Amino acid sequence: MDRIRIVGGRRLNGTIPISGAKNATLPLMIASLLTEDTLILDNVPHLADVGLLQRILGNHGVDVMVAGKRPGDDPNSGRTLHISARTIVDTTAPYELVSKMRASFWVVAPLVARMGEARVSMPGGCAIGTRPVDLLIMALAQLGADIEIEGGYVMARARNGLRGGEIVFPKVTVGGTHTALMAAALARGTTVIENAAREPEIGDVADCLNKMGARISGAGTSRIVIEGVPGLHGARHSVLPDRIETGTYAMAVAMTGGDVVLQNARPELLQAALDVLGQTGATVTPTNRGIHIARNGAGLAPVDVTTAPFPGFPTDLQAQLMALMTRAEGTSHITEAIFENRFMHVQELARLGARIRLNGDTATIEGVPRLKGAPVMATDLRASVSLVIAALAAEGETTVNRVYHLDRGFERLEEKLGGCGAAIERISD
Ligand code: EPZ
Repeated sequence: MDRIRIVGGRRLNGTIPISGAKNATLPLMIASLLTEDTLILDNVPHLADVGLLQRILGNHGVDVMVAGKRPGDDPNSGRTLHISARTIVDTTAPYELVSKMRASFWVVAPLVARMGEARVSMPGGCAIGTRPVDLLIMALAQLGADIEIEGGYVMARARNGLRGGEIVFPKVTVGGTHTALMAAALARGTTVIENAAREPEIGDVADCLNKMGARISGAGTSRIVIEGVPGLHGARHSVLPDRIETGTYAMAVAMTGGDVVLQNARPELLQAALDVLGQTGATVTPTNRGIHIARNGAGLAPVDVTTAPFPGFPTDLQAQLMALMTRAEGTSHITEAIFENRFMHVQELARLGARIRLNGDTATIEGVPRLKGAPVMATDLRASVSLVIAALAAEGETTVNRVYHLDRGFERLEEKLGGCGAAIERISD
């Protein structure tokens, strides 16, 4: 199993290209199930989760062709996938596959919308909490699907097709909103989604669905209206930049000091996080190439932050901010309000010398003058990368084990950080 070895203490200087967003790519690939035609996705990141979803879709009969790079192509521009769900051979998504990646549960929506039936394993719990799917099931039921749960599987049936309806989410859910959008696109009549998630990835999926012939308005607001259409066609769509990767590298630069351009990053996708970085003392400047982030000399100021659905501070940057605050000059408080148990990084950061106390959903972080390298590991991808951020500022050597978690969501991490001067290498056994 690969490990990442980091020797801390170097400043980061240079340019880091930001990849296409993992959390847009996954639902976009799943949306390909809605049409017999080919969906072409550009700017797709090269990630383990994308490969895994390719296998899961393959099980339903979907062909995915990865276009090769041509001479002169920008090496940082991501890959192009040609995805064709011409014939769906199987409407079951088995436990062995769904349990490896929660987002694959979302196939339930396009399968029932197009094929009139789907049998999809419940994803179960995971390292960041229980993560139920009750709201996704509620959304499908509101659109007329008959739902049964049997042997750990959700069976959704709509023999005569889905029909438009009103879906009121009692809680903001990204997966629930993706599911509702995809199902409603092919339902008869109008669907209204209230309290929809406003994450930029929802807007990206809605844009792509509209290119495929869907009639969706209001994506990016809490009220989305979908006029169902009888069928969708092929389209070409470029995945939006990854705001979590952007925020992660921005925090790495704030941690080590230095001066980096995050190329292709879009500030409006993570304004809340950039504001927090500004409060810590980093300088954040939008440029026409992306985002310029710098910190020179001055210490880090502590902050109090609570995670929230977009446009609030994202839960997917909570661990990285905590790593940064381990070196602040003072005491910070970070409250995790989205997931009940997303604090696995706390114990591991402590191994590097961090002082963090947990009380329910709030972590109190007392900044320390120095961290010291140690072997660490984490069981989820954002927690793993928080350890990388801490290691970049720790004295001596840190080994981050179980690198496959990082590979699920960060493309060429060691190359991107190494290119800006970090002493970082991958060790393969
Ligand atoms: C998406 O997960 C992301 N995953 C997560 O990113 C992200 O942390 C999360 O949204 C929140 O922003 C992808 O986009 C692939 P939710 P999702 O439904 O859709 C509760 C990463 O590291 N809930 O918005 O699964 C749920 O328990 C990952 O890239 C229900 O109660 O998250 C949570 O408390 C991890 N019932 C809250 O809603 C439901 O049926 C928000 O979850 C569904 C959700």
